[in-house]
Amino acid sequence: MSTEEIHNLYDTILILDFGSQYSHLITRRCRELNVYCEMLPCTQKIADLSWKPKGIILSGSPYSVYAPDAPHVDPAVFEAGVPVLGICYGLQEIARTHGGQVEAHSQREYGYAKIQVEKTGIAHADRMFDGIQMEEDGGMQVWMSHGDQLTSLPPHFVIIASTSTSPFTAIAHESKEIYGVQFHPEVSHSPRGKEVIAAFVRNVCGIEGGWSMESFIPKEIARIREICGPKGQVIGAVSGGVDSTVAAKIMHEAIGDRFHAIMVDNGVLRKDEGAKVHKMLTEDLGVNLTVIDASDLFLSRLKGVEDPEKKRKIIGNTFIEVFEDEAGKLEAAAEKELAEKGGDAKGKIEWLLQGTLYPDVIESISFKGPSATIKTHHNVGGLLADMKLKLIEPLRELFKDEVRALGRLLDIPAHLVGRHPFPGPGLAIRILGEVTREQIAILQHADDIYIEEIRAAGLYDQISQAFVALLPVKAVGVAGDARTYDQVVALRAVSTEDFMTADWFVFPSQVLKKISSRITNEVKGVNRVVYDITSKPPGTVEWL
Ligand code: XMP
Repeated sequence: MSTEEIHNLYDTILILDFGSQYSHLITRRCRELNVYCEMLPCTQKIADLSWKPKGIILSGSPYSVYAPDAPHVDPAVFEAGVPVLGICYGLQEIARTHGGQVEAHSQREYGYAKIQVEKTGIAHADRMFDGIQMEEDGGMQVWMSHGDQLTSLPPHFVIIASTSTSPFTAIAHESKEIYGVQFHPEVSHSPRGKEVIAAFVRNVCGIEGGWSMESFIPKEIARIREICGPKGQVIGAVSGGVDSTVAAKIMHEAIGDRFHAIMVDNGVLRKDEGAKVHKMLTEDLGVNLTVIDASDLFLSRLKGVEDPEKKRKIIGNTFIEVFEDEAGKLEAAAEKELAEKGGDAKGKIEWLLQGTLYPDVIESISFKGPSATIKTHHNVGGLLADMKLKLIEPLRELFKDEVRALGRLLDIPAHLVGRHPFPGPGLAIRILGEVTREQIAILQHADDIYIEEIRAAGLYDQISQAFVALLPVKAVGVAGDARTYDQVVALRAVSTEDFMTADWFVFPSQVLKKISSRITNEVKGVNRVVYDITSKPPGTVEWL
């Protein structure tokens, strides 16, 4: 399905992004209402659109509307004949373009506020808050985050909501469907914010919905095809985690073998991980994947290293080296094919796939142009400087739960879609002390038993992350008639929303008993198992 067909099929909300950190939350709220939306930089000219939106939302922004470099809206937005809602900076931009006055507030207003909706008797103006159940005191709690505020109403505008400190919290044009709200309905701190967006989308714009995550797939495939053109090639690292697998699968659906997935086996992966990921991505999902066994190189560099930050640095840098080397080979092969086959060959490798999710995108600065959207937060950001590749990020608007939903729709096996996260430096940060092949084998075996038993007990999906850490101590034990002097492993299992804070998981004692018995019986070199009952803070999830 092409982008054009999607627009013909679904009423679309156009979101113009002025660079607020919350802009993508507006798209998320629309998706939750089963409404298709497209977010474009605020510099988008309405005349250049090949489709007609059913409504337009102007986002917030870190700028002041009168700042010399502030981004501004195309005035044609207000002549497009469709409803417009301005949020925060969006409201101020509406005021600026319609003759109102915006001034810096003496104090930045940040936090909760209570708004009172005011009935105007003008049907379209009152529709903005229509049907929203107010709180017991007749008001509605909302979240504010702004430095400037409206100090005089533009001509032909009316007040539709106010707070005790600001009379112009929400405004509407008296004859056109133009609205502005000073608060942020898109954030979860505005408990009824979703209803405010629903009122605009449904009551004002008249969109019923009908779009679903299923429609994301053809839209994204069409976008990738447009970006890459008929011949362009893409490379990307995969880890076996849900994000890179979903991103790889969608790339494969879009451009087939012109997408090259590369998995680097760094020697500190889970048991049989390389082989398992290879089978899943190639046999089950059809992705063009090369697994590079670079474990000797990684482990030789990790020899004698105990400091966790040094381990991280070595693994990160070696990863970049190995990936670039493989990418160089693929690039050379592409150049050779071009020289031999000319027009029949595939194109150059120009793109690097990243499985970046929305929460990784700390700030949106897209209106400054595509190059500014390449940020240092990316795990393999170091790759970009030398390789001159352009980034392609199919998941950058999505949240983790949406990626999982997408994975299920793409027929990615359920056990993979729900997989716990696994850190880039792998088992190296779960072996306290030096990383050796012997220690890795012990940890892989113990971890494999632990996860197998958690799955068998039906607890895997209740836990956010579970793993075993190998401690640098030895303890005395007894096996048969003999004294043993072996290693200790610590079991870790946590529940968390966002990994910033976490609670340790309460296991039924029978499950712990079985895990302990199996590990001490089956894993040679371990005679003691302990369970970590530390929450975060003060602990962290990992031991290193
Ligand atoms: P901590 O230990 O910081 O872990 O509480 C929070 C989450 O981050 C993961 N983690 C890492 N992931 N590289 C990664 O890709 C790392 O160096 C790293 N350190 C921790 C950890 O597994 C948990 O999910």
